[in-house]
Amino acid sequence: MNMEIRNLDGRPVIVGGGIAGLMTALHLAPEPAVLLSRMPLGADASSTWAQGGLAASLGLDDEPLLHLADTLAAGDGLCDADVARRVVQAAPAAIEELARLGVRFDRTPAGALLLGLEAAHGRRRIVHAGGDGSGREIMRALVAAVRSTPSITVIEGVEARRLAVDDNTVVGVLARCSVGPVFFVTGRVVLATGGIGGLFLDTTNPLGNCGLGLAARAGAVLADLEFIQFHPTALDGADRPMPLISEAVRGEGATIVDETGQRFLQGVQGAELAPRDVVARAIWKHLSNGHRVFLDTREKPGPTFARQFPTIASACRGAGIDPGHDLIPIRPAQHYHMGGVAVDGAGRTSVSGLWACGEVASTGLHGANRLASNSLTEAIVCALWVAESAAGSPGGRQKPAIASDQDSPDDPMPVRALLSGALGLARDGEGLKAAIRALLPLAATSDPAAVGLMIAIAAFLRQESRGAHYRTDFPHRAAVARRFEFTLKAALARLAST
Ligand code: SIN
Repeated sequence: MNMEIRNLDGRPVIVGGGIAGLMTALHLAPEPAVLLSRMPLGADASSTWAQGGLAASLGLDDEPLLHLADTLAAGDGLCDADVARRVVQAAPAAIEELARLGVRFDRTPAGALLLGLEAAHGRRRIVHAGGDGSGREIMRALVAAVRSTPSITVIEGVEARRLAVDDNTVVGVLARCSVGPVFFVTGRVVLATGGIGGLFLDTTNPLGNCGLGLAARAGAVLADLEFIQFHPTALDGADRPMPLISEAVRGEGATIVDETGQRFLQGVQGAELAPRDVVARAIWKHLSNGHRVFLDTREKPGPTFARQFPTIASACRGAGIDPGHDLIPIRPAQHYHMGGVAVDGAGRTSVSGLWACGEVASTGLHGANRLASNSLTEAIVCALWVAESAAGSPGGRQKPAIASDQDSPDDPMPVRALLSGALGLARDGEGLKAAIRALLPLAATSDPAAVGLMIAIAAFLRQESRGAHYRTDFPHRAAVARRFEFTLKAALARLAST
């Protein structure tokens, strides 16, 4: 039986308690808003695990146009240049806003922000907080701010299961909590559910979050789904999800070697600091050829490692590794989804009353590949645009016919094996066709399978190699860059016709 939360009727409902969700709620204040989180705030959000910081052109030698140029180069022809320009222009103010909300950024003794360098950035422009614990520190401050904002009703332990949609318009959210189904009557929903790590065996993300299924079943257009970023340096131990070893460690001079001590990336332009997909593919290839691959931190950062990277040092210690003395075994792992729910410049999706923000959204900022540390920046900047847009929209107070509370099975295990095999760092038409055939019968009832199927179809249709999408059977870039966008229904129709 459905339980209704009547006194919250009509309020915007934000699904997801990471940085994008929290910032959206804060920007909506003092308008009352409801924030739903599967776990206690901060406990299961990718945001909390973020080691890299936020990219913003704050240095004296830097400016938004330079940040824009690096972003567009990483995006390999598929960024929305207008969105990218707006995001990089707004980035410095977003950092100020976080500082105002109490985030303790790393600073010089004189109080200036410390600016770090990451791969494919032409300037030092990454701000961190707490060294490699940036996400944790930002979440600490934002959770405190949200908890002390009376207009925000935080409901923890609630998982959104379906968006109720009538005539392509959101009318509510069906959720599940410990006492059973709950229905929120609302005409405004903001999806801020993070990425698709839960669909892969090797990932640096929490396993539980995949809001793309909600959007797909609601009929929303999804975009750029084939573009999945694999981080080159996840700690190759027994833990799943895999602990991340930040690119900043290579920024401080760590090298990548194999079991013979050979620096096999030396011949690659940029070597260890080449673009992330280049480094990840080189490691993957070396592993596939039977080698073992390690990060060598013994000389650089050397003795300062634990002080500079306390979170990573602790993960290494947990695996019995001392980065000052031992090589760290690494392998690439799924890390970030450039694609997601297609949104316009205000975060609006193709379904009226539905917005998306953060990793679950596809704004066009990242294109075919994301520049390091642009994602938290995007979440903070876009949360303001989403809140401004949602605040000015009708609330939808009419009680709708309540959507079916039938749960679809959401066991991602079969999907994980299929996607990890066919949609990893190197893809080919035969593997993708086999994955599509296997996912199709599961997709009618399983959200992870429906999302996996849409990703596989997008990857199959993209018969070229571009950005993070590498096809062994189409190793070159096509002359014309185009984005793929479709609904679940359109994807299925396309399959039926081929
Ligand atoms: C990292 O620190 O290597 C990850 C940063 C990011 O994903 O942007």
